[in-house]
Amino acid sequence: MRIGILTSGGDAPGMNAAVRAATRAALARDWEVYGIRNGFAGLLADSMELLRARDVGGIIHRGGTMLGSARCAEFRENAGQAKALHNLNQREIDALLVIGGNGSQTGSAKLAEHGFKVVGVASTIDNDLVGTDFTIGVDTAINITLEAIDRLRTTGSSHQRAFLVETMGRDCGYIALMAGIAGGAEVIAVPEREVEPAAVAERLSAAYERGKTHALVVVAEGAKHGAQAMMRHFAEHRAAIGFDLRVTTLGHVVRGGSPTAADRVLATRLGAAAIDQLAHGKHGVLVGMINHGVVTTPLAEVANKTKPIDADLLELARVLAQ
Ligand code: F6P
Repeated sequence: MRIGILTSGGDAPGMNAAVRAATRAALARDWEVYGIRNGFAGLLADSMELLRARDVGGIIHRGGTMLGSARCAEFRENAGQAKALHNLNQREIDALLVIGGNGSQTGSAKLAEHGFKVVGVASTIDNDLVGTDFTIGVDTAINITLEAIDRLRTTGSSHQRAFLVETMGRDCGYIALMAGIAGGAEVIAVPEREVEPAAVAERLSAAYERGKTHALVVVAEGAKHGAQAMMRHFAEHRAAIGFDLRVTTLGHVVRGGSPTAADRVLATRLGAAAIDQLAHGKHGVLVGMINHGVVTTPLAEVANKTKPIDADLLELARVLAQ
């Protein structure tokens, strides 16, 4: 058997661990492994090379992806998919592993529709993929956001300030919600439950009245009332609120650096499980983790869908922020 492995979309800490696990699990079965450069773009450019066990050594602790990643508009078109299939057939590649998030697995589903053997590995910091409790990279992104919150809390206390931290997640508030709960934020604003700037101000001024020396607001980048709207409101109502507000936008910082142990282990398990699927003749599925066990979901059920956020956690965050 000859397989190709690519990482696609926004990189996520742990992708390297998944590449390593999948490559070595495949080599252990005497399969050949091609590492494809820069996601589907590399597949279209026929940019790939054979991977041996040593080629994936010394990467488990590294963030990013040794294979490179990209978002590829050409691959969304039929012509792009036909070119990809042509290149795979020319190289006599039997199956493809796609390590990536929502958009990438929608691409995987397209290849599967064309009859090619594909297995998806759930990987995105956003944790918005159907078919898994956790995606590779989200634990690291939460922990980086949390570290920023903890650091801002100490300087906030010294100056009696409120801090607003905006974190990534595209249209999904999962990173903000989890980091906000873990960081004891006064307010958590996510796209799934919007908070008006006036309501944020009210909660902060109540905290100020109770004698709090700092206050933390965690906002997901996809929230409608984001950092800019909050800043405008604070500028207009500063005297009534009590706290001064400072804003920190974390951006791509939450995607960089070393993966946590949890992300390395998740990536290792999912990468190896993807090879097991192929070895058992199964494909056209996403490999994910539900209730601590590896599960598969047909790619057709994953494509173009977004996992809803846990409503109980949202409610818990609201109650705790009183
Ligand atoms: O999907 C992962 C992600 O990091 C999102 O959280 C974010 O909105 C987006 O990618 C950023 O995309 P880019 O890296 O293309 O700027």
